Amino acid sequence: MNSFIQKDLKHIWHPYTQMKDCEKLPPILVEKAKGIKIYDNNGNFYYDTISSWWCNVHGHNHPFIKAAIKKQLDRFEHVLFAGFTHKPAIDLAQKLVEITPQKLQRVFFSDNGSTAVEVAMKMSFQYWKNINKPERNYFVSLDKAYHGDTIGVMSVSGVDLFNSKFKPLFFKSFKAPSPYCYRCPFGEDKDSCALECLKKMENILKAQGKRVCAVVIEPLVMCAAGMLVYPEKYLKGVAGLAQKYGVHLILDEVATGFGRTGKMFALEHVGITPDFICLSKGITSGYLPLGATLTTDKVFSAFYDDYDKLKTFYHGHTFTANPISCVAAGASIELFSKEDSFAKIKDINNQLNLFLDKIRDLPMVGDIRSKGVIGAMELVADKKTKEPFGLNKRVGMEVYRAGLKNGLILRPLGNVVYFFLPICVRSGELNDIFKRAEKVMKKLADDLF
Ligand SMILES: Cc1ncc(COP(=O)(O)O)c(C=O)c1O
Repeated sequence: MNSFIQKDLKHIWHPYTQMKDCEKLPPILVEKAKGIKIYDNNGNFYYDTISSWWCNVHGHNHPFIKAAIKKQLDRFEHVLFAGFTHKPAIDLAQKLVEITPQKLQRVFFSDNGSTAVEVAMKMSFQYWKNINKPERNYFVSLDKAYHGDTIGVMSVSGVDLFNSKFKPLFFKSFKAPSPYCYRCPFGEDKDSCALECLKKMENILKAQGKRVCAVVIEPLVMCAAGMLVYPEKYLKGVAGLAQKYGVHLILDEVATGFGRTGKMFALEHVGITPDFICLSKGITSGYLPLGATLTTDKVFSAFYDDYDKLKTFYHGHTFTANPISCVAAGASIELFSKEDSFAKIKDINNQLNLFLDKIRDLPMVGDIRSKGVIGAMELVADKKTKEPFGLNKRVGMEVYRAGLKNGLILRPLGNVVYFFLPICVRSGELNDIFKRAEKVMKKLADDLF
């Protein structure tokens, strides 16, 4: 074993990893990365088909983003963001306000996706206190949601595998059934359904609305739940309910933001305006950590008062609005028009759909779903009954292992194998990726059935 890997395994605890698995499958030592390819120390390359955990947008090592970072590094690296400010943050705030719905005029920076959501929740919670509605202490969210890994956002999340052990630490929140169309708990069909799941959310708001601060939701794709692409009418319905019952709408666009669904933000597909939008991951094209929570002047003004009125928002992180992250974000946003990114996303989606169609008949492919650069296959033990593979079967791990052997990073979410492609991927590369993926999936089918 390479000596660096030995040292890694001696000292490092990797995220979302059963470290014992590393005995058989040690981490890969990365030497360089360019575009969609990551190269290891032996000269092998791997297609970064999941955008390095959904954050890389324009490809690794992009000269335009790199130049912006280098330029800023020669000026200054980081300064405190209370009592001081800087042009990178000011420019970025302005850009974010320009590309999000008009009502969102205020930007609060943080440094990751969990904090971007946590900030929105705390702001909403304190908003109601600041306007003398202290009884609003609860949030409504979806039972399979994922909003990050801090205790606060875990309280409004529901991926049991990640969360169930921590339940005693969570604050109470109301959970509505997720629009998981393939396994619709109401037995309805996606295209013709009467949105029974939305009615359940309405029941919660009808009964509890006066005690609720906000509805928190991932728009259009519930990513960590297994890339659950849900109907636009559901999202529109949730926005309508938030308005009807007078509660805030918090849209967590940490994963869906920055082009992933085919528009800059998923909310654009349905033309809704939330009270908060949470951004991170792709904001810097995945080059540096940054989070941003945007909100309205109405929310902001509930905090704006004389100091002794105690309405200040006491929240902040050391690396708030890191200037190098901010310039990376500014450059990444510019690239969308410079590189005609939205036309490219359309092409990626077309090719993705052709691939998914091709493999949908394999015996273990229960469902396929796609939106923008995201495409997923839910693997099942029995196609007719939709019986899932048991956890201990570790089918996902098999796919991951086989993917690596074939130069692909197919890191699954349970039994869901997915693509979350960076926009830089070229048509020839996509053909190659799908050829390799087809080989992996066909071999899996042969092994399993
Ligand atoms: C929708 C969503 N919200 C929040 C987060 C948390 O982001 P981070 O891992 O940067 O804390 C994630 C991460 O996957 C996410 O998918």
